[in-house]
Amino acid sequence: MNQAFFTFAEIFTLDIIHPQIQAYAEYLSTPEDELLSEIGIYTKKNHPEHHMLSGHLQGKLLEMISRMIQPKRILEIGTFTGYSALSLAKGLSNDGVLHTIELREKDAAIAKEFFNRSSFAEQIILHTGNALDVIPFLNEDWDLVFIDADKVSYIEYFKIVLPQVRQNGFILADNIFFHGEVLADEVKARPNGSSGLSKSAKAIQEFNAFIRERNDIDKMVITLRDGLYLIRKL
Ligand SMILES: C[S@@+](CC[C@H](N)C(=O)[O-])C[C@H]1O[C@@H](n2cnc3c(N)ncnc32)[C@H](O)[C@@H]1O
Repeated sequence: MNQAFFTFAEIFTLDIIHPQIQAYAEYLSTPEDELLSEIGIYTKKNHPEHHMLSGHLQGKLLEMISRMIQPKRILEIGTFTGYSALSLAKGLSNDGVLHTIELREKDAAIAKEFFNRSSFAEQIILHTGNALDVIPFLNEDWDLVFIDADKVSYIEYFKIVLPQVRQNGFILADNIFFHGEVLADEVKARPNGSSGLSKSAKAIQEFNAFIRERNDIDKMVITLRDGLYLIRKL
């Protein structure tokens, strides 16, 4: 998309989903269970980057998608404090396993504590390290992959996981609107002509263009929260 729909200044004030619609949608949806609610409260209180947590509606969407697929193998890239992993784990088949990868030891330790208190302690395998180093050692056929780590590596994550995704398996990639920054016109963004986009926003623009151009996958965008790309391997 070359044409800017919004100026850069407008984008920074853009509330993608109207807060009242968000509250209404949450009100109409099944409430979070106790453990997910506790993770949300804990993360908000203790983590400076608490905005990264999937939260009620997105967590519920992940759970519903997972329940529809009933996966045997799920891969999550970017565990954070464990909210999305526990949401996805709810749809695992009885003998299913979810692998989740987190770079930061401190976040991994928090997630591990929550996993241990859940009924999925035996089914969630937490890896601490850089996902790009860990994934090549996971010899699995993925039914479902959730990409939610550093935005600059999204294309790389996609490329390394796609061969391991089974036919008709799914990949979900989070934050593909990047708070609306993806609509910014780079040239107009700054008076001196330099790009006003952050490295992550640019990386997401590139990822979105890369996915859009591929004809070997089926794809759609879910306009929930910060946007998710839902991709099916053909
Ligand atoms: C947006 S948060 C994930 C949120 C989580 N999926 C949820 O919904 O609650 C991104 C996480 O990815 C982790 N991360 C960043 N780069 C990574 C990498 N190269 N490998 C693994 N994890 C990474 C960050 O430390 C952070 O905890």
